[in-house]
Amino acid sequence: MANKFYITTPIYYVNASPHIGHSYTTIAADALARYHRQKLGKDNVWFLTGTDEHGQKIQKAAQVQGLSPQEFADKVVVQFRELWQKLNISYNDFIRTTEERHIKVVQKALEILYKNGDIYLDKYEGWYCTPCETFWTQTQIKNPLCPDCQRPVEKISETNYFLKLSKYQAWLIDHINKNKDFIKPDTRRAEILSFLRDNQLNDLCISRPTERLSWGIPLTFSPNHVTYVWFDALINYLSAVGHFDEKDNYVSEWWGKDVNIVHLIGKDILRQHAVYWPIILHALNIRLPDTVFAHGWWLIQDTKMSKSRGNVVSPIEMSGKYGTDTYRYFLLRDVPFGLDGNFSEEAIIKRFNGDLANDLGNLLYRTLTMIEKYYDGNIPELNMEKADNLDISSDLEVEASFNFSSALEKIWLRINLANKYIEETKPWNLAKQKKEDELKAFIRFLVEAIREVSLNIEPFMPKTSQSIREQIGQDKIKKGAPLFPRIELTPDT
Ligand code: ME8
Ligand code: MG
Repeated sequence: MANKFYITTPIYYVNASPHIGHSYTTIAADALARYHRQKLGKDNVWFLTGTDEHGQKIQKAAQVQGLSPQEFADKVVVQFRELWQKLNISYNDFIRTTEERHIKVVQKALEILYKNGDIYLDKYEGWYCTPCETFWTQTQIKNPLCPDCQRPVEKISETNYFLKLSKYQAWLIDHINKNKDFIKPDTRRAEILSFLRDNQLNDLCISRPTERLSWGIPLTFSPNHVTYVWFDALINYLSAVGHFDEKDNYVSEWWGKDVNIVHLIGKDILRQHAVYWPIILHALNIRLPDTVFAHGWWLIQDTKMSKSRGNVVSPIEMSGKYGTDTYRYFLLRDVPFGLDGNFSEEAIIKRFNGDLANDLGNLLYRTLTMIEKYYDGNIPELNMEKADNLDISSDLEVEASFNFSSALEKIWLRINLANKYIEETKPWNLAKQKKEDELKAFIRFLVEAIREVSLNIEPFMPKTSQSIREQIGQDKIKKGAPLFPRIELTPDT
């Protein structure tokens, strides 16, 4: 059984500012990291995020602004870091692919693969899609548009290095068949399996001639080539936490058998993570991650939100307007993890007024008010006998299913059960009838329920959790303003 947990996000391209899609994956990873820190202790969890800074896209974006690619990356990376701070992202490490520690591991990995005969030199003729950084063969291109994104592709002819994917196809199919958790959710697993069964894998071109692309990591065995941005990028999961020793063994405290390794990604980059990446690792004689989880897309009026489509919503604006925790809650609650969802502010406001203001906010506020009124702000002592039959705790199981939405639903069941108990028990009547023991036990039960809820919501809403714990102290309360004052809907919202 794994007693350590290593969670990663994709490393995002720095060709443009982050949008809510990027924040979604990172918030989900943060919730998982926080959840596992509660379970395993904080030293047994490692949470990695970072930025993907090489490649043609970034070289072009820098050119447009008249900056060197490095200057450009240095500028944009600040926006990512600031956003993660604003969203309370508790990452342990932030890797940039332009860092020396990364470049060294990428070069070493390429050398090992080359030495072992898994990489060979060949002449390539075909089509290239720059936005996707993907090669296409003549038979795959009709229009000539990219089969994935429908944007124009360029014809190219050059000598490059190729990684033998075909050699490992049967092994990969077998691995996916034997490891049900390797690709999640099941729909994505089925998709990859049928892709692997129906297509003979083409070997992957993993270099670019420096005449065409200079902004990349040079191959040590062929200085006129830099490595393909996807080869570069995937290695970040290794380079951030370990290195190759003299015997070409990869060593890392976060990549051993005792670690549950999870890559969280969007479904747009599933093939790279579920086909290329396991083969690269296997060829390097390195264990595979336990799980690649590919979530769905946030859509705007049913089309994918993306920088290149120009329909992006700013996470800074949304979290500024509605609050960081509301924003985090909304993203993880509104759409089951794995499915696509439509983003709208109306939906945020609905969740805010319902789940947050009415249910959670109200439970806390009325409980504090009663403690103020009946006990002068002192929390009554716990009487186990009386409190026992009021137990409403239940297990959360976020980990097994990655279903944040249903985990939150369960927490809210408990919140609403507590609210319902208040309506039914009518503690104000107990007070009038001077049923002091009963009133005490009941109030104390509410305090316990709220404390438990505050622990349960910590992975999702860390600030709210902290604020609740501050308001319901050890023995005295410290009532603040309502956590979620209702948002009144005006005709133009
Ligand atoms: O692909 N909905 O970086 P990228 C949900 N550098 N999630 C979305 C999204 C949307 N509309 N749009 C983006 C790259 N994402 C590579 C990754 S990893 C070794 C290299 C999220 O900047 C989602 O996680 O294009 C998606 O996979 C990722 O951002 C793509 O970010
Ligand atoms: Mg992308």
